[in-house]
Order: sequence, then C-alpha cells, then structure tokens
Amino acid sequence: MRDDTEGATGVELAGAAQRRSGLVSEVLEGLRRPEKSIPCKLLYDARGSELFERICETDEYYITRLELAIMEAHAEEMAELLGRACLLVEYGSGSGVKIRLLLDHLVEPAAYVPIDISKSALEQSVLELSKLYPSLLVLPVCADYTEAYEIPKPPRTPARLVVYFPGSTIGNFTPDAAERFLAHVAHICGAGGGLLIGVDLHKETEVLERAYDDAAGITRAFELNVLLRLNREFGADFQTDRFAYESLYNPDLRRVEMYLSSKTDQRVSLDGEMIALHAGERILIEYSYKYTRRAFAELARSAGFRVERTWTDPRDWFSVQYLLRH
Ligand code: TRP
Repeated sequence: MRDDTEGATGVELAGAAQRRSGLVSEVLEGLRRPEKSIPCKLLYDARGSELFERICETDEYYITRLELAIMEAHAEEMAELLGRACLLVEYGSGSGVKIRLLLDHLVEPAAYVPIDISKSALEQSVLELSKLYPSLLVLPVCADYTEAYEIPKPPRTPARLVVYFPGSTIGNFTPDAAERFLAHVAHICGAGGGLLIGVDLHKETEVLERAYDDAAGITRAFELNVLLRLNREFGADFQTDRFAYESLYNPDLRRVEMYLSSKTDQRVSLDGEMIALHAGERILIEYSYKYTRRAFAELARSAGFRVERTWTDPRDWFSVQYLLRH
C-alpha cells in the first residue's frame, strides 16, 4: 500500500491537508499511549515502497519468492477454478507481477479491477496491462480497500466475482480485524464468488525473525523510514541512530512483532508536543500474523468462506488458497 498526497486540483489538495492533520492526530494518539505505536500505513511513502521492493529480494524474506513460485506452478489450475468470464478484483495491486501470471491463463475475464491507494501505481499498472492484454477491460479504483469503495460494473455480466489478495497482507490485520475484513470480502463476492489469497504459515521462530530483520539491514531501514517520514512531513525531530529495530516472533499468538526501541532516555517533539521515551521503551510498528492451515480454515469459515483448494511450497512455508463463499 502506498499513499501519495500529490494532486493537481485544489479539491484534492484540500483533501490532502485534511488527511494530513488526521494522520498527525493518529500518530500522536499512538505515541501518547503507555504501549506506544505508529500506524503501519505510514511505512509506504515513495522511499518506503522502494525499500519494500528491496526487502522482497532479500534471501531472508522468503514470502515473495515462494508466492511467485506457487503462482507460476499453479496459475493454470487457479484460472480454471476461477472460470470463464470472472470479474477479477485485486486489493493493493502494487507492481502487478503476480496478477499477470493469472491473466495469462484466465479465459475471457469480464474485467480486471485493481484497487490501490496510490494513484500513480494504478495509472502505471493500467498502462502496462493495456499494452500486454489489449482485449482486457481494466477498471481501476483508487481507494483504501479497508474503507468504502464501489466495484465498477463491466458491460458484460460476469459469471462470478473473485477477489485476489496476495502478499499475506491478511497477516497484518489482528485476527478480529482479519475476520471482519474477510466477512466484508465475502459480502462483496456475493453468492458463488471467491477469494484467492496468499497466507503465510507458522514456522520456526528463527526463520521468521530473520525474514523480518535481514542481515543487510534493509528491513531496519524500511522501519526507521517511518521516523524520517515523520521528520520530513510533520516536522518531528527523531534521531534514527537513537533507535534500534527488533523483530520478535511470538509463537503463542503466532505473530511477528516489529518494534523500534529507544536506545536512551530521550524526548522527541512532534507537532508542538513533547514525547518522552525511556531507554528500552518500544514503539510497535506492525504485526505480521502467521497461520496454521487449520487456523486459517477456521477463520475463513467464520467469515463465510470455505477453503476450496490450497497450494503450498515443498516445505509448507507459504500458501495460496482459493476460498469459496458458502
Ligand atoms: N504483508 C507482508 C508481511 O507481513 C509485508 C510486510 C508488511 C512486511 N510489513 C512488513 C515485510 C515489514 C517486512 C517488514 O510479510
């Protein structure tokens, strides 16, 4: 997910100013609490998105590589399950590499609807896809898919609506929020609809902690960029060398916890407010929940889906699952 606030018109700029002040209060609210946190959506500015692409290429971060390999190996079968004339909706379409593997095999899709918060990312993917698939109808929606949006109606009535949600982004929701989100997706899909989703699986602590803290320090830079962004955009005065990055796997709750921890007692100012941090105090940036196949099936079921098919890699580290609305 990215968010660009640039816009050519006054209307968009006014909206951007409002979003900005909303963000500042959200950040301050998170930093005033005894268990401090910063909203993870701030990770994805232009620099953050670039660093994230580099994380995906590290040896430690197995997720992107495995998901791509699974898609490559099984896209044909996936496309068969999705069937002819499906309306394919993608959440957080980003760079659009994975979707092409599906589009290569889909039979006469009614339309492809990429939904992304970044206008520039959307424009670019529409441009590229229309070159690669001249007969494909692309109906982009610039929106935050966790909020309200409308799915455009293609001229041809689709046989079914299928949502594609790769990258194990579902893991960045708490289980309660994940259930609410999936139930909302089930509602959007309607009867006979489906969800093709990437789900990262529970595994050894060491593998997980390394995946979120690579030796070259790219993940660390990605997380620290959040502080630099607060400095750049909101006039804060964080000094990144006074913070350490930690990724901890909590096997009981099956989640990777990503923190920036203060190396010293310090004070930081943000939008006229002073925030005190003591040595060792942590700021939570994000969780990445991992699922067993059984736990995910249970979650899917309570949201109104059943697991139709699961594809994994030989070690069972990552899964792509096709859920049908029941
Ligand atoms: N959703 C992915 C995951 O949880 C991507 C991601 C989100 C991520 N935040 C991250 C990757 C922080 C590395 C570091 O794996």
